Amino acid sequence: MSPSPPTESSSSAAAQLAARYRAVRAHTESLAAPLSAEDQALQSMPDASPAKWHQAHTTWFFETLVLGARLPGYQPFDPRFQYLFNSYYEALGPRHPRPHRGLLSRPALSEIQAYRRHVDAAMLDLLGTNPQDLTLIELGLQHEQQHQELLLTDILHAFSCNPLLPAYDSAAPQPCPPLEMQWLPHPGGQVEIGHAGPGFAFDNESPRHTVLLPAYEIANRLVTCGEFADFIADGGYQRPALWLSDGWALVQANSWQHPAYWLAPGDPRAPSDGWQVFGLHGVRPLDRHAPVMQLSFYEAAAYADWAGARLPTEFEWEAAHGLPGMAQLSDQAWQWTRSAYHPYPGFKPMAGAVGEYNGKFMVGQLILRGGSLATPAGHARKSYRNFFPPAARWQFSGLRLAREPSSP
Ligand SMILES: [Fe+2]
Repeated sequence: MSPSPPTESSSSAAAQLAARYRAVRAHTESLAAPLSAEDQALQSMPDASPAKWHQAHTTWFFETLVLGARLPGYQPFDPRFQYLFNSYYEALGPRHPRPHRGLLSRPALSEIQAYRRHVDAAMLDLLGTNPQDLTLIELGLQHEQQHQELLLTDILHAFSCNPLLPAYDSAAPQPCPPLEMQWLPHPGGQVEIGHAGPGFAFDNESPRHTVLLPAYEIANRLVTCGEFADFIADGGYQRPALWLSDGWALVQANSWQHPAYWLAPGDPRAPSDGWQVFGLHGVRPLDRHAPVMQLSFYEAAAYADWAGARLPTEFEWEAAHGLPGMAQLSDQAWQWTRSAYHPYPGFKPMAGAVGEYNGKFMVGQLILRGGSLATPAGHARKSYRNFFPPAARWQFSGLRLAREPSSP
């Protein structure tokens, strides 16, 4: 059966997607541009990947899942890259072990950049033929945007391991204006949760379904560095009663005394009388009004307990999204929730190899909602579900408090 002839509207959708393809791919390269080839080869821990690998893997996604299947006569840039840059897709064959991505000094960065150009040319050729199924290409772009944030979180972790504490961006950050803390009431009841369309969403945001919520209150803004410093000063990291058992074990085993990228007064790497925080702009004096981040779930939960509150569930977070006064939803830090990463009722993974994208990770992780200062513009949405294991603390992850209603 021959494909149906292109229509004017499908041709314009393909042209729009081609423009978006160019913009997303260029943004990845602009994020990598401040980094040297040595920076881009670093892998500071098994959970983090080199910047070079992120650029290659996002390209592999298009080459393997789109071009190999849909562009007749496509010649791979280098067939060996199939093995090197597969992340976790069992259906697509064996792969280089994740903890050893930092050993890939070859192919050189310049070869990865040539790989990107090769795949870009073929992708734009494909988009010029007005292909029928644009959803998979959009998925590839959304995937690349996720890796754009990971590129930043991973290089920041690598830099945090360097005693010189290099700045990714040496410009001074914008100070955070103070924002008064307010409790916003939500009446609860039956709420609709999940992607309502139109537009793109990942499979884990569906099906949309009804959830019954008791009444609750939620904070209008995120917990600040100043508030978290008060928790530390009050012995927060020394009081087991505030902590979940697994979290307390981590505090003991790793001698956690503060969020991952905080420098205590007198830290020999950057001597100072006060707290400092390492971030994309290097080491900076603690900004009391800035949202706290680089927290594990356990630290977020302990803080909430200390503050006489709790973390919201992911459903409470989503239902509160449109409340008047809700601030810092997706532009500062991802917000840990008290919800495990489970499939929604009736969840079905996408068909084919991309069915491995989300569904197989739905155990042992917790949901974060919102978005961060490193999330690409336009990528986050109300129904977006981010997820990490509870001990992860190298992401831009903070918290927003919730509690039961203060009066009936
Ligand atoms: Fe990926």
